[in-house]
Amino acid sequence: MDRFKELIKIIKEAGKIIEVGYKEQVTIDKKSATELVTKYDKEVEIFLISKISKLYSDFEIVGEESFCGTSLPKKAIFIDPIDGTTNFVHKIPHLAISVGIWDSGKPIEAIVYNPILNELYTAQENSGSFLNGERIYVTNENKLQNSIIATGFPYVKHEMGKEYHFVIDTITKLLPKIRDIRRLGAAAIDLCYLAEGKVNGFYEVNLQPWDVAAGILIVTEAGGKISGIRGADYALENQILVASNGKIHNLLLDNLGEFDGA
Ligand code: IPD
Repeated sequence: MDRFKELIKIIKEAGKIIEVGYKEQVTIDKKSATELVTKYDKEVEIFLISKISKLYSDFEIVGEESFCGTSLPKKAIFIDPIDGTTNFVHKIPHLAISVGIWDSGKPIEAIVYNPILNELYTAQENSGSFLNGERIYVTNENKLQNSIIATGFPYVKHEMGKEYHFVIDTITKLLPKIRDIRRLGAAAIDLCYLAEGKVNGFYEVNLQPWDVAAGILIVTEAGGKISGIRGADYALENQILVASNGKIHNLLLDNLGEFDGA
């Protein structure tokens, strides 16, 4: 079995841990006043790291619950054990394991798996994106007024300054121009929904590398576009990520709020 197929098998096994937790009343721990974590986030991450570090021994692992470095390795596996922890706690089935593999600063393989809805999104560089084995594509929509745009609101919003203003400014500016906004609660899945054609665009401030490392490749391999707020290439260190089907990208960029930063 090739390494990517083996990785999918490991992630599906990890999904079974989430399925158990989803049926329980889970105890909530807090990373900060507004950021939730559960024993399942930690357990899934430990399980994934123990298996993946053997399979991809030539890569460094950057996991949401354990990474404490200051700079990102160029050859890395980014793991979000449960993207959408708040949904997990509230029994909203919009959550996923997200695993993105990057080499020389670009994504080469990606898996986003929602074990509750049994949705497996995969992509490999230059080979397309798939949902449960079926090829997926972004939409051809070229008008903002026909577009659904997904976004998220950072959980540390109370402590934010310019980021909070960006969130509010953008809603004020963008909402009247589009069909609607969706805040679904898991950035990895928002990107997959864009890749699949359910939404036409996505933007968010203060995402972390593990939230988006997989979704970025799934979007681009489905024909979509990813950039920073000024339209230049997105780097995992950027504060704002903008994603779209490509057709509405410039219109979306033009209608985001002001932001003093990248
Ligand atoms: C969160 C989700 C959410 C986004 C937050 C992220 P987590 O990830 O992706 O959609 O709005 O900014 O932190 O904490 O559930 O892994």
